[in-house]
Amino acid sequence: MAGKLKRNELCPCGSGLKYKKCCLNRQNVLLDIKTLYFKKYNIYLKDKQDIDGIKQCGQIVIDTLERVSRLIRPGMTTDSINTFVHDYTLQQGAIPAPLNYKGFPKSVCVSVNEVICHGIPGHRILKDGDIVNVDITSIYNGYYADANQTFFVGIPSLNAQKIVNVSLECLRRGIDAVRPHNTIGDIGWAIQSYAESQGCSVVRELVGHGVGFHFHEQPQVPHFGKKKDGIVLIPGMVFTIEPMINLGKKEVLILEDNWTTVTRDGSLSAQFEQTVLVTEDGYESLTPYDLNNFRYPN
Ligand code: MF3
Ligand code: CO
Ligand code: CO
Repeated sequence: MAGKLKRNELCPCGSGLKYKKCCLNRQNVLLDIKTLYFKKYNIYLKDKQDIDGIKQCGQIVIDTLERVSRLIRPGMTTDSINTFVHDYTLQQGAIPAPLNYKGFPKSVCVSVNEVICHGIPGHRILKDGDIVNVDITSIYNGYYADANQTFFVGIPSLNAQKIVNVSLECLRRGIDAVRPHNTIGDIGWAIQSYAESQGCSVVRELVGHGVGFHFHEQPQVPHFGKKKDGIVLIPGMVFTIEPMINLGKKEVLILEDNWTTVTRDGSLSAQFEQTVLVTEDGYESLTPYDLNNFRYPN
């Protein structure tokens, strides 16, 4: 006779917990999916109030990005972008999350040309034809939102136009894969398959991430992968998608400062990032800048 499920057996819901610690005595497993996703994956699901908080923070982030886009011009230093982002963020009653994060010395990441990410603002002068990524994370009422854009400085080369357009399309396709029942792997596959079809490559060492209560939470969101692999997306998950796409090979180098991450082959790299919420029927961006009519300065 097929015995009754015992209290100390593994719960059939797949949580990895004992039945007695999981679905036994529960009317509805869905009611406690929040506990399940935390115990199984360390993912903090967000409720309505949290989402409102992250959204308000996200508005500050994209407002700041928009203002930065209008400042960008040949001859300015990357440090002047830092000064603007730092001061404007504080003016909004928010805190720049990068400052002192794991020892990062500035308030924003500014990454030029072959710099993939984590560029430290300094004396480097932007010149005509450069591409520059500005990655802004703010903390507002305790909530984090994270977004970035890559801008043209002056007149872009054909290579610059290509890598920026491909990375923008990668973010669009990644976000379009966000809906309940899809997986983290579906997002990575959407991005990788497109990037590689264009002869570009996807950086492996840096990934998207859960965000909201902290700068970097679970899950990790690789920008490469296989369909149906990885964690199943459920409503209330909030994470970034931020594909770093190289014109040449995918390999990276980290410079002496332990932050600046560059392409090993010196090729151009571009990136766009948004913070995205999984909803009942798809997604909502919590840093909703327009991906279809992305406006470049100049
Ligand atoms: N904003 C980056 C991200 O998208 C992280 C920067 S970490 C810092 O995850 F310390 F460099 F700010
Ligand atoms: Co991020
Ligand atoms: Co970021």
